[in-house]
Order: sequence, then C-alpha cells, then structure tokens
Amino acid sequence: MKEKIYEIEKEIENTVLNNAKQLEEFRIKYLGSKGKIKDLFSFLKEAPKEEKREIGQLMNMLRKSAQSKFDDSTEKLNFAQETEHKIDLSRPADQNEIGARHPLSLVRSEIIEIFNRIGFTVSEGPEIEDDWHNFSALNFPPEHPARDMQDTFFIEKGENEIALRTHTSSVQVRVMENDKPPIRTISPGRVYRNEAISARAHCFFHQVEGLYIDKNVSFADLKQTLLYFAKELFGEKAKIRLRPSYFPFTEPSAEVDVSCTICNSKGCNVCKYTGWLEILGCGMVDPNVLEASNIDSKIYTGFAFGMGVERIAQLKYKVNDLRLYSENDVRFLKQFTAGN
Ligand code: DAH
Repeated sequence: MKEKIYEIEKEIENTVLNNAKQLEEFRIKYLGSKGKIKDLFSFLKEAPKEEKREIGQLMNMLRKSAQSKFDDSTEKLNFAQETEHKIDLSRPADQNEIGARHPLSLVRSEIIEIFNRIGFTVSEGPEIEDDWHNFSALNFPPEHPARDMQDTFFIEKGENEIALRTHTSSVQVRVMENDKPPIRTISPGRVYRNEAISARAHCFFHQVEGLYIDKNVSFADLKQTLLYFAKELFGEKAKIRLRPSYFPFTEPSAEVDVSCTICNSKGCNVCKYTGWLEILGCGMVDPNVLEASNIDSKIYTGFAFGMGVERIAQLKYKVNDLRLYSENDVRFLKQFTAGN
C-alpha cells in the first residue's frame, strides 16, 4: 500500500500544470470524489492494523500536497491570464523625449548674456503695477493716450489705479527707487496690452528694458552700447542707425534700426526694401524721471532702452506670426536650439 502511495506521489510530482485543461484533468484524477486519492482512502481499512496509523498519515500528506500543487498552479495561471493582455514584453521601450527650450526663452537668455558681459545686472518687477510705476513716474502726462482703456488692462480704476504693466519701463522706476547710482541693469519680463490678437499683435508679449545711470553718461555711450549689442546678436557685420523719436521718459529719444540680416541690406520683403529693421526704442533718461525717483539730475545722467523679445526672435528665427509663440504647439517649439 505504501508503494502505491509513493507511486502516486511521483506521478503528481511529474505532472505539468500549464493550462486550465491540465488543471481540470488533475483535479478529477487526484482530488475528485472518484479520484485516485479518494480511492486509496477506501483501501485504508484493509491495511494491517500496526501500519494503519502511518499509512493514514502518508495519505493525508499526499492529499495535502496534491491540493497545494493544484492551488498554486491555479493562482499562477490566473495571474498570467490577467497580465497577458496588459504587458507586451516584446514591445520596444518608449523613448524619453528630450524637451526643447522655448524660442523666446532662448532669445531672452542670449540678450541677458550679451549685456552681462558689459556689466549689466538683471532686475525684475511685478506684472501687476500701479499707475505711479507704469506711467506717472515715467513722465506720462495725465491725459496721455497710452493710459487709455484701449491699451491698458486695468484691474482697479480710480485714485489708486492698478493695471497689468504695459511695458518693462516700470522696473526702471523700481530700480531707481531702491538703488543708488551707478545703476547698470536690464529687466526682462512679460507685458500686457489690450490689443486684438493677430499675426502682428498680441495681448501679451515680452520686453527687455535697459537702464544705465551714472555721472557723465552720454548719448555716445548709448549708441556704442547698442552697436555692441547688435553686433553680438546679429554678427560682426551688423550696423545700426538711430532715428529721432518721442517717448515721455527719454529726451532726446530715438528708434534704432539694425541692418537687415535677411538680405544683407540689399532690400527684401522683411525690411520692406529699406535694408533696415526696427529693433528698439531708446533715449537719455528725462531729468523729470530721475527726479521722480529721487536721483539728482544735476549730478547724474543716464540712458534707457527697451526692446521686444518677440521682435528679435522674429528676426533671428524668421517666424513672423506672433501667435505661434504662445500656442504651445510642440511641433513648432521643438525646432529651436541656441545659436540657430
Ligand atoms: N517702453 C517702451 C515701449 O514699451 C520702449 C522703450 C522706449 C523703453 C524707449 C525705453 C526707452 O527705456 O528709452 O514701447
């Protein structure tokens, strides 16, 4: 009888249980009510008295091990079925996509680097501004059209007007209020204007403001600084020209053109066949602006300039539709690399 038990034990050990069919066959053959183990038990009463106990134990062990083999295999099979459809181990791994920097961020960094090299620090100010920093301290007369609802997004009207800043010149005022000359700083940042969105205008865009205040700062310093900037940004051959202009906060004021980098000043549709591209506004800081921030205009003079980052990016990357910069289309954004 013991031999029979060992024989069945071996059989069970050697049985492979890899699918539902094999499992069911195993269950019927060994664990079922007409199975081999049940059969063995019915012979127990025929065993010799002195061996009964031992044989009974062996049979119990056999039944237990058959049952646990069945249970374990069932569990494994269920798990395999569950995961079969979820994990395809033959699939190639997903590539980790490397992101690209936004073209405006690249241009902004390049502008900052160029001015850092000649000692300009970077300063920032709030995008939500009061009337004083955005307009009054910059010598805007009370009825100046730029204060008009059409240009400015007002948050609070009335005595303490609060608005989204319309230019980064507001940071000039904050720097002058907080620091003593000499001041040499640039202020990059986002600005807002109440404009209908089109290829050529947007309700928000980016500027970099520049400010240099010290004793004996002259218009020649301004011109030289801007020429250096144009050459660093557009290449050694770049030339600049200054045209007289008007800004409330500078006197005299000028607009600066750079020689067209696209056609080498020969004339093309980007420079409208003039050979020149407008890139920024500038001038000598108006004494009223210095005084408004408690800087003595008899001792100090200074120059300021302001440029649009989108405008520079347009010229560097030849992207003419302003809307593309804020649509977050990855196909557009991933095309830019530093130095492109
Ligand atoms: N704030 C001017 C604008 O938004 C740009 C500008 C012009 C800034 C001349 C200046 C400047 O500092 O001197 O259009």
